[in-house]
Amino acid sequence: MSPALDTMFAMAKAAQDKAYAPHSRFRVGAVVRATSGRLYAGANVENAAYPVGTCAEAGAIAAMMLGGESAIAEVLVIGDGPSLCTPCGACRQRLREFAPETAQIHIAGPDGIRRSFTLGELLPHSFGPENLR
Ligand code: THU
Repeated sequence: MSPALDTMFAMAKAAQDKAYAPHSRFRVGAVVRATSGRLYAGANVENAAYPVGTCAEAGAIAAMMLGGESAIAEVLVIGDGPSLCTPCGACRQRLREFAPETAQIHIAGPDGIRRSFTLGELLPHSFGPENLR
Protein backbone atom coordinates (compact mmCIF):
# COMPACT_ATOMS: atom_id res chain seq x y z
CA MET A 1 0.00 0.00 0.00
CA SER A 2 1.17 3.54 -0.71
CA PRO A 3 1.82 5.74 2.35
CA ALA A 4 -1.32 7.71 1.50
CA LEU A 5 -3.42 4.55 1.42
CA ASP A 6 -1.77 3.34 4.63
CA THR A 7 -3.01 6.48 6.34
CA MET A 8 -6.50 6.07 4.92
CA PHE A 9 -6.55 2.43 6.05
CA ALA A 10 -5.44 3.28 9.60
CA MET A 11 -8.01 6.05 9.87
CA ALA A 12 -10.81 3.81 8.54
CA LYS A 13 -9.89 1.09 11.01
CA ALA A 14 -9.97 3.56 13.90
CA ALA A 15 -13.42 4.71 12.73
CA GLN A 16 -14.60 1.12 12.41
CA ASP A 17 -13.65 0.57 16.06
CA LYS A 18 -16.01 3.40 17.00
CA ALA A 19 -18.98 2.12 14.97
CA TYR A 20 -22.29 1.63 16.78
CA ALA A 21 -23.56 -1.68 15.41
CA PRO A 22 -25.27 -3.60 18.23
CA HIS A 23 -27.96 -4.97 15.90
CA SER A 24 -26.00 -6.35 12.95
CA ARG A 25 -22.72 -6.60 14.86
CA PHE A 26 -21.14 -5.59 11.56
CA ARG A 27 -18.88 -2.61 12.08
CA VAL A 28 -17.89 -0.52 9.10
CA GLY A 29 -15.44 2.36 8.77
CA ALA A 30 -15.07 4.66 5.78
CA VAL A 31 -12.66 7.41 4.84
CA VAL A 32 -13.02 9.85 2.00
CA ARG A 33 -10.06 11.81 0.69
CA ALA A 34 -11.23 15.17 -0.52
CA THR A 35 -9.51 16.79 -3.49
CA SER A 36 -7.66 19.04 -1.00
CA GLY A 37 -5.96 15.91 0.34
CA ARG A 38 -7.73 16.09 3.69
CA LEU A 39 -9.25 12.88 5.04
CA TYR A 40 -12.68 12.49 6.63
CA ALA A 41 -13.85 9.39 8.48
CA GLY A 42 -17.22 7.91 9.31
CA ALA A 43 -18.65 4.77 10.92
CA ASN A 44 -22.04 3.10 10.78
CA VAL A 45 -24.50 4.14 13.48
CA GLU A 46 -27.39 1.72 13.82
CA ASN A 47 -30.78 2.20 15.42
CA ALA A 48 -33.36 -0.07 17.08
CA ALA A 49 -35.67 1.07 14.30
CA TYR A 50 -33.45 -0.57 11.69
CA PRO A 51 -33.99 1.66 8.62
CA VAL A 52 -33.01 4.73 10.62
CA GLY A 53 -29.41 3.52 10.93
CA THR A 54 -26.75 5.23 8.86
CA CYS A 55 -23.82 3.81 6.90
CA ALA A 56 -20.16 4.63 7.43
CA GLU A 57 -19.95 6.32 4.03
CA ALA A 58 -22.79 8.69 4.91
CA GLY A 59 -20.94 9.69 8.09
CA ALA A 60 -17.71 10.33 6.20
CA ILE A 61 -19.52 12.47 3.63
CA ALA A 62 -21.19 14.47 6.40
CA ALA A 63 -17.80 15.03 8.06
CA MET A 64 -16.38 16.24 4.73
CA MET A 65 -19.23 18.73 4.37
CA LEU A 66 -18.58 20.03 7.88
CA GLY A 67 -14.94 20.44 6.86
CA GLY A 68 -16.12 22.79 4.14
CA GLU A 69 -15.41 20.44 1.24
CA SER A 70 -17.57 18.70 -1.31
CA ALA A 71 -15.26 17.04 -3.86
CA ILE A 72 -14.18 13.44 -3.24
CA ALA A 73 -11.01 12.08 -4.85
CA GLU A 74 -10.80 8.61 -3.29
CA VAL A 75 -12.61 6.39 -0.77
CA LEU A 76 -11.66 3.48 1.47
CA VAL A 77 -14.24 1.26 3.19
CA ILE A 78 -13.38 -1.41 5.76
CA GLY A 79 -15.52 -4.25 7.05
CA ASP A 80 -14.86 -7.63 8.63
CA GLY A 81 -15.84 -11.07 7.37
CA PRO A 82 -14.78 -12.97 4.27
CA SER A 83 -16.81 -10.99 1.73
CA LEU A 84 -15.94 -7.66 0.16
CA CYS A 85 -17.55 -4.83 2.12
CA THR A 86 -18.59 -2.83 -0.92
CA PRO A 87 -20.82 0.23 -0.41
CA CYS A 88 -24.55 -0.45 -0.45
CA GLY A 89 -26.58 0.83 -3.38
CA ALA A 90 -27.69 3.97 -1.57
CA CYS A 91 -24.10 4.80 -0.60
CA ARG A 92 -22.90 4.32 -4.17
CA GLN A 93 -25.38 7.02 -5.11
CA ARG A 94 -24.30 9.18 -2.16
CA LEU A 95 -20.69 8.97 -3.32
CA ARG A 96 -21.75 9.71 -6.90
CA GLU A 97 -22.98 13.11 -5.79
CA PHE A 98 -19.46 14.19 -4.83
CA ALA A 99 -17.04 11.93 -6.71
CA PRO A 100 -16.23 11.43 -10.38
CA GLU A 101 -16.85 8.06 -11.97
CA THR A 102 -13.05 7.60 -12.12
CA ALA A 103 -12.64 7.88 -8.33
CA GLN A 104 -11.06 4.81 -6.75
CA ILE A 105 -13.10 3.00 -4.10
CA HIS A 106 -10.83 0.72 -2.07
CA ILE A 107 -12.44 -2.17 -0.20
CA ALA A 108 -10.50 -3.37 2.82
CA GLY A 109 -10.66 -6.17 5.35
CA PRO A 110 -8.83 -6.33 8.67
CA ASP A 111 -5.49 -6.98 6.99
CA GLY A 112 -5.58 -4.39 4.25
CA ILE A 113 -7.08 -3.55 0.89
CA ARG A 114 -8.68 -6.52 -0.83
CA ARG A 115 -9.84 -4.94 -4.05
CA SER A 116 -10.27 -1.56 -5.67
CA PHE A 117 -12.98 -0.40 -8.05
CA THR A 118 -13.80 2.85 -9.77
CA LEU A 119 -17.10 4.42 -8.81
CA GLY A 120 -18.17 3.90 -12.41
CA GLU A 121 -17.66 0.17 -12.03
CA LEU A 122 -19.77 0.08 -8.87
CA LEU A 123 -22.50 2.34 -10.25
CA PRO A 124 -22.51 2.20 -14.06
CA HIS A 125 -24.67 4.46 -16.22
CA SER A 126 -25.53 6.46 -13.12
CA PHE A 127 -27.75 9.45 -12.61
CA GLY A 128 -25.86 12.39 -11.13
CA PRO A 129 -25.92 16.12 -10.51
CA GLU A 130 -25.14 16.84 -14.20
CA ASN A 131 -28.49 15.34 -15.15
CA LEU A 132 -30.19 18.25 -13.43
CA ARG A 133 -28.16 20.98 -15.15
N1 THU B 1 -22.85 -0.79 6.16
C1 THU B 1 -22.09 0.34 6.01
O1 THU B 1 -22.01 1.18 6.91
N2 THU B 1 -21.44 0.52 4.84
C2 THU B 1 -21.35 -0.41 3.85
O2 THU B 1 -20.64 -0.19 2.87
C3 THU B 1 -22.12 -1.65 3.95
C4 THU B 1 -23.01 -1.78 5.13
C5 THU B 1 -23.52 -1.00 7.46
C6 THU B 1 -24.99 -0.78 7.50
C7 THU B 1 -25.38 -1.60 8.71
O3 THU B 1 -25.17 -0.83 9.88
C8 THU B 1 -24.39 -2.74 8.71
O4 THU B 1 -23.32 -2.33 7.87
C9 THU B 1 -24.96 -4.05 8.21
O5 THU B 1 -25.60 -3.88 7.00
